[in-house]
Amino acid sequence: MTQTLDIVEKERLALQIELDSRKMQVERNRLGQFATPTALARDILGYAATLLAPEEQVHFLDPAIGTGAFYSALLNTFPQQRIAKALGFEIDPHYGQPASLIWQDFDLTLKLADFTYEEPSPRFNLVICNPPYVRHHHIQASDKERLLHRSFKASNMKLSGLTGLYCHFLALSHAWMAEGGIAGWLIPSEFMDVNYGQVVKQYLLSRVTLLHIHRFDPNDVQFADALVSSSIVWFRNAPPPPDHDVMFSFGGTLAAPKITRMVPVKALAHEAKWTRFPASEIRSRKTGPSIADFFQIKRGIATGDNGFFILGEETISKRGLPLELFRPILPSPRYLPEDEVTADKDGIPLVERRLFLLDTRLSEEEIGSRFPALATYLEEGKAKGVHEGYICDHRSPWYVQENRPPAPIVCTYLGRGETKSGRPFRFILNNSRATIANVYLAMYPTLMLQRYLARDPGLTRLVWQVLNAITPEQLLDEGRVYGGGLHKLEPKELANVDASAIAELLPRFERGVELTQLDMFGVGELAA
Ligand SMILES: C[S@@+](CC[C@H](N)C(=O)[O-])C[C@H]1O[C@@H](n2cnc3c(N)ncnc32)[C@H](O)[C@@H]1O
Repeated sequence: MTQTLDIVEKERLALQIELDSRKMQVERNRLGQFATPTALARDILGYAATLLAPEEQVHFLDPAIGTGAFYSALLNTFPQQRIAKALGFEIDPHYGQPASLIWQDFDLTLKLADFTYEEPSPRFNLVICNPPYVRHHHIQASDKERLLHRSFKASNMKLSGLTGLYCHFLALSHAWMAEGGIAGWLIPSEFMDVNYGQVVKQYLLSRVTLLHIHRFDPNDVQFADALVSSSIVWFRNAPPPPDHDVMFSFGGTLAAPKITRMVPVKALAHEAKWTRFPASEIRSRKTGPSIADFFQIKRGIATGDNGFFILGEETISKRGLPLELFRPILPSPRYLPEDEVTADKDGIPLVERRLFLLDTRLSEEEIGSRFPALATYLEEGKAKGVHEGYICDHRSPWYVQENRPPAPIVCTYLGRGETKSGRPFRFILNNSRATIANVYLAMYPTLMLQRYLARDPGLTRLVWQVLNAITPEQLLDEGRVYGGGLHKLEPKELANVDASAIAELLPRFERGVELTQLDMFGVGELAA
């Protein structure tokens, strides 16, 4: 029998290659047609066998069967007498018809049909699927409505219109699963980190018992022709037991992953990015204070045109521009060799590049009558089209800047993982009156921290030292990674970083205690 199976599998593989080669890539993308390699399909079915009871009869369903990689692996894994039923759907006759011929002597029902229209019957205790990876913008609007409705009916998942087809397959299949049945889904890892995946994660945590998520190493691409970072998600169709732990693994193979970590469902419930696991520690958000408890974080000013609005003091004096309508602004981080900015008696930073931002709410008429040199400068800007840029065009008057009072501590917004200092982001103690552009994040103490600072002004320095002692791993864990090892830290991400070390500096620190009367940084007035 094994020999026959090997022959059929060889035939199926040859057929797969031939059918793939006869299809245009665009068309394959449209229907998400990327087959599972034999070795991976066998790993998956082998793993499934460990999740079913030893003698349990198998009722197998593959809602997107293609030429039948998983069915073939099923035959390879389970003795024939254990396979009670096998059903597969395939929308595309290009694959479905020749596949039916290959499997004609086997007990497989292969329906040439669109799975998303099928009426479910909850009979299957083993659902294994590599669903089509079709992004939402390739799903027609009318189809989307239908899918959203049917997915909800099948699983109670209120998916968003931005959801890819693979999540609908997962949702729809719920109604096909027998109670206690097992599902293994080979899907993109994306759902673990993005907004539309939130509903799927909620389903995995509350409706079924999530058993294991194995993420393949993106550098070890499983699908020769689809550059996707994929995961396999295993769950049982049963409500989760209390205090349930989920296995997260990464790299290697399903049976022998490179790293593994058990994560309690409770921790997953308030973790926005599941791809942190298994590499990162589990954090207990609910108990530990985060930076948001101590700082309100705002991105620096998007001026609309730094070259026009930010000037050196020589240019200002040479052109006779009114310095009182400018405010100091920090130069970009590469011009700040130190992590502390000192200032002269007027609060102007003592740095090599002393820069000023044009920052006035005066009308053009008023400027025209009181500050003719500035009026001429603005006219020059208009002649260059500065006022028509996206940002300038959306504010009135076009040169007005966002309100960013000087922050006592600022953080660099973009960092490289591999800097000489080993610190991708820097916290800078700002003793000046300078504001910042959007290469920095401004950190304004919350009212609660202001209360402590009012009593002990030296505390700002201690807090700054503690911030700079936060490990790159803690910070990068929150930030996103861009190409070339560039990391970006959004205000919300910085706000989420653990700040127990700051809490330790504060005597009798109590979360949630706010003092409403004190707002020395004008944080309350900042626009969102
Ligand atoms: C990612 S491939 C996986 C094929 C196969 N199960 C494997 O693992 O090699 C997805 C398959 O689903 C099929 N498909 C796409 N949309 C479908 C639908 N609405 N109903 C049924 N099959 C569909 C595609 O034609 C393709 O063969």
